[in-house]
Amino acid sequence: MKVTIVGAGNVGATAADVIASKGIADHVVLLDIKDGFAEGKALDLMQTATTKGFDSIITGTTGDYSLTKDSDVVVITSGIPRKPGMTREELIGINANIVKDVSSSILKYNKEPIIVMVSNPMDTMTYLSLKSTGLNPKKVIGMGGALDSSRFKTYLSLALNKPQKGLDAMVIGGHGDTTMIPMHRFAKYNDEPISKLLSNDKISEVVKSTMVGGATLTKLLGTSAWYAPGSSIAYLVDSILNDKKKIIPCSVLLDGEYNHSDICIGVPCIIGKNGVDEIIELDLNESELVEFNKSVDAVRLMNSTLSSHT
Ligand code: LAC
Repeated sequence: MKVTIVGAGNVGATAADVIASKGIADHVVLLDIKDGFAEGKALDLMQTATTKGFDSIITGTTGDYSLTKDSDVVVITSGIPRKPGMTREELIGINANIVKDVSSSILKYNKEPIIVMVSNPMDTMTYLSLKSTGLNPKKVIGMGGALDSSRFKTYLSLALNKPQKGLDAMVIGGHGDTTMIPMHRFAKYNDEPISKLLSNDKISEVVKSTMVGGATLTKLLGTSAWYAPGSSIAYLVDSILNDKKKIIPCSVLLDGEYNHSDICIGVPCIIGKNGVDEIIELDLNESELVEFNKSVDAVRLMNSTLSSHT
C-alpha cells in the first residue's frame, strides 16, 4: 500500500509520521517544492523506525511526481496555512492554483488515485480538485469532518469530565468557523444523549468552542494546528487502505443527497477501499436543516469565486 502526501509541512509530515508509525501503509512518499525539505523530513522519520518499531518506508522528494506513481491514496496538504486572525476562506487566492497544479501533476502518474484533500478552504479545494481531475466523485474526499469531530469530542470530554473514548459525536457542514455544524442532538456518551448530561448552556459553549477550534489553536501557536489534522488524515487513510468502512464525516460531492447537488460539503460517509462507499442521510430536524442549507450557501458562494482565482 502506497500513500503520497503532497506538502511536507507540519500537517503533511505529522500525517506521514502517524501513517508510518501505525503501519497503515508500507510506503509513504512525501513531496514538497521547498528544496530538500521533504527528503529531510522523510529521512528524519525513517530514523524513528527502530525506536518506534515500524517497517514502513518513507521517501522524500523535491517535486519529482514520478515517485508518486501508483499511489493508492494521495493526500494534498499543499498551500499556505492560515495565520492568527485569518479565516480559512482567505487562503483561496493562493491555494486554488496550487491545488489545481498538484491535482494535474498527480494524474500524470496515477490513473485512479483516491485523493484526500486537506488544503483550505477545504470544501472548495475538494470541489476544485474533483472538477479539474474529472475523477470519480467517490474518490475525491475532503478531510475536515474527522478533525472537527475530534475537536468536538475533546470539548465534550472536558465539559463532561469524562474520557473521550465513550463519546460518539460528529460535525457536518462546511469546514469553516461559521459553516460547521456540531451535531449535538446526536452526540452521546456511552449511548446516553449528552442533553441528559450537560445543560443547554454548556452544550452551546461546547458547540461554540468547536466551531472556532482551529482559530483558537492558530492564535495560540501562531500558525495552523498539525497534530490533530495529521492524525485525522491518518484515520481517514486507514479506513480507505484497510477497508475499515468507518463512518466518518467527509466533504464529498452531493448528488441529490440532503436535497443538494454539485457541491462538496461535510456529511457522514462510509469510507472503504473504493473511497466513499455510501453517504449517510441523517434525519435532520427543521433547525438543523436551516443550518445545513446556510452552510451549503456559504460554500457555494466560495465555489463561485473559483473562476476568478484559477
Ligand atoms: C485546521 C485546519 C487544518 O482546522 O483547517 O486546523
